[in-house]
Amino acid sequence: MLRLQKKHPRAIRWMHWINFPVLTLMIWSGLLIYWANDVYSIDVFGYRLFHFFPDWFYSALGLERKLATGIAWHFTLMWAFLLNGLAYVVYTAVSGEWRFLVPNRQSFGEAWQVLLHDLHLSKTEPPPRKFNGAQQIAYTGIILMGAGSVLTGLAIYKPVQLAWLTTVLGGYEWARAEHFALTVGYVLFFLVHVGQVIKAGWNNFRAMVTGYEIVREKEVARE
Ligand code: HEM
Repeated sequence: MLRLQKKHPRAIRWMHWINFPVLTLMIWSGLLIYWANDVYSIDVFGYRLFHFFPDWFYSALGLERKLATGIAWHFTLMWAFLLNGLAYVVYTAVSGEWRFLVPNRQSFGEAWQVLLHDLHLSKTEPPPRKFNGAQQIAYTGIILMGAGSVLTGLAIYKPVQLAWLTTVLGGYEWARAEHFALTVGYVLFFLVHVGQVIKAGWNNFRAMVTGYEIVREKEVARE
C-alpha cells in the first residue's frame, strides 16, 4: 500500500529554493565583474590548456562591458545569500535536521560504496536513510563552501577594513583565487546534483517541493 510520508520541513524547502535563483544571479553577476579582469587559466609547462573564459563564452551569454551592473547585483544579492545561508544553518542546528546532514565516521566508507554503486561497479544498494554518506558529505560541503564564498568575498570586497581576514586567507590574490575556485565548485556541484536528482526520479524531486514523498507501507518505519 502507498502512503505519503513527510520528508523535508517547509523552512528547508523555502531556503533551498530561494538559494537556487540567488546563487544563479550571484554567479551571473560575478561573471560580469570577472570579465573586466579575467586572469585565470589552466597552464601545463607553459602551455595554455584553458583560459577562464574564451571570448565566445562571454559573447554567447552577453557578459561583456557590464562591470557596474555586475557590482550592483553582486553586492546587493550577497546579503540575500548570506541571510538565507545563516537562516538555513540556524534552522538546521535548532530543529535537529543537522543529524541527517552532518557526516559521521561511517559516511566516508558509505560514500565510496554509493560511488561504486552509481558507477555500476557494485550491487550494494545505498542505505535507505534520508541522506546517504555521499549526500551528507556533498550537502555539508556545499554549506561550508557557502561560508567560504562569503568570507573570501568579504576579504576582496574590503581588503583594507578587513585586512586581518584577507591575510588569514593568504592575501588578496589568494582570496580572489579561492573565491573563483569556489564558484567553479558550485557549477560542478550543480551538474552532479541535478544529474542525481534526475536519476532519483520524480518522487524525490516532488518531496523537495511539497515536503512529502510517496512510500510503500513497509518502508514507513524507516528513519
Ligand atoms: C544551485 C544550487 C543548489 C544548491 C547549493 C543545492 C543544495 C542542496 C542541499 C544542501 C540539499 C540538502 C537540503 C537539506 O535537506 O537540508 C539539497 C537537496 C535537494 N536538492 Fe538541491 N541545491 C541546488 C539546486 C537544486 C536544483 C536546481 C534542484 C532541482 C533540479 C535541486 C533539487 C534537490 C532535491 C530534490 C533535494 C533533496 C534530495 C533528496 O532528498 O535526496 N537542487 N540541495
